[in-house]
Amino acid sequence: VSASPAPADERQVVSFGMLGYGFMGKTHSNALKTLPYIFWPGAAQTRLVTISGRTESSVREAATRYGWEKYTTEWRDVVNDPDIQVFDNVGPDDAHFEPTLAAIQAGKHVVCEKPLGDYAQSAQLAEAAAAAGVLNLACFNYRFVPAVRLAHDMIASGELGDIYSANFRYAQEWHTDPTAEFGNKTGALDVIGSHAIDAARYLVGEVETVSALITNPLTSPPRGEPIDTVDALAQYAGGATGTISATLIAPGRKNRLGWEINGSKGSVYWDLENLNVLHHHKRAGAATEGFMEIIVNEEHHPLVAPWWPSAHILGWEHSHINMLAHFTDAVVAGSSTVGPEAATCADGAAAARVAEAILRAAASGERVEVSSVV
Ligand SMILES: NC(=O)c1ccc[n+]([C@@H]2O[C@H](COP(=O)([O-])OP(=O)(O)OC[C@H]3O[C@@H](n4cnc5c(N)ncnc54)[C@H](O)[C@@H]3O)[C@@H](O)[C@H]2O)c1
Repeated sequence: VSASPAPADERQVVSFGMLGYGFMGKTHSNALKTLPYIFWPGAAQTRLVTISGRTESSVREAATRYGWEKYTTEWRDVVNDPDIQVFDNVGPDDAHFEPTLAAIQAGKHVVCEKPLGDYAQSAQLAEAAAAAGVLNLACFNYRFVPAVRLAHDMIASGELGDIYSANFRYAQEWHTDPTAEFGNKTGALDVIGSHAIDAARYLVGEVETVSALITNPLTSPPRGEPIDTVDALAQYAGGATGTISATLIAPGRKNRLGWEINGSKGSVYWDLENLNVLHHHKRAGAATEGFMEIIVNEEHHPLVAPWWPSAHILGWEHSHINMLAHFTDAVVAGSSTVGPEAATCADGAAAARVAEAILRAAASGERVEVSSVV
């Protein structure tokens, strides 16, 4: 038997360094390892150079498990390594700003999990990235679910007509557990509300004003300040109105980002717990009209072609793989931005601005112009 050696992969190599090796470290490592062979012959080869984290034994194990060449307990080793082109920050929220800014200032392209920080920090990251001319990605990965992209494209092409009303709600249940640790200062608004805000901006457009209520039935001391539930009324620049909500105390809701958008020509609704399906109603005046279920998993659907044959179904992790493939493509192409498909740091800042307006509206009981947040 004389099997031949496979020819070398001659595509460009994009080299990554990472901060964090937890849930999202696993998710992004999986994406970086998967995308080169799924997005064939597009994208690039990815090189997983160095992963960083605080606990040596754990980061060492993560490096072996996820296939990183090196590990370190000091994220500055990643930022200062000239071999690394992209700094991928999957650390906790309070480790987003300083390391990502340092990476931008060192000339790295950056990927940063959401939320980037508060509005001031996020805006500073966006400005620094623009000044440095580096690619920058805020990880609003749900833009890369095929059904979400299809809805976006339908709205953008006018298929739903004028948008009248839109409701976005991200609901999880885990904060109902009285022993749950909750490190994030603003709770539901940042942890999951940031995704709902980005979905609202991505699908409907800029939010101009908000009024809001925040309720914290379960966050009294000693659990501290974090928000259990936030409900905002939003008015969009295009004239639509609707709600943006997030709650961590919805028993039975495991991971339900859901939205419904109603326009003059029809409606769409979707939720993350059934992420391949987009429900669409087209106004036609026929006796048989009603909502139909589109399994957004055909080759002709956006983002699906590199994956499996007809309706062999994608999962949550594919949104991250699609997103990081888009980013890697942009690095190889020398693009100036990963937008408008992906969220940039400017989008991260815009989402943080809406979140800040929601906080102010809830505190004052007044309706707040998002542009008043400076
Ligand atoms: N986009 C999404 O789908 C999604 C889903 C979950 C979480 N997130 C976001 O991802 C981020 C990480 O969340 P997670 O669930 O992976 O958290 P996690 O707690 O599982 O992991 C955090 C990692 O960061 C490391 N770390 C903490 N402080 C550090 C420091 N100072 N220096 C270096 N490493 C440090 C920890 O050791 C751990 O490896 C959060 O910002 C969260 O909001 C995004």
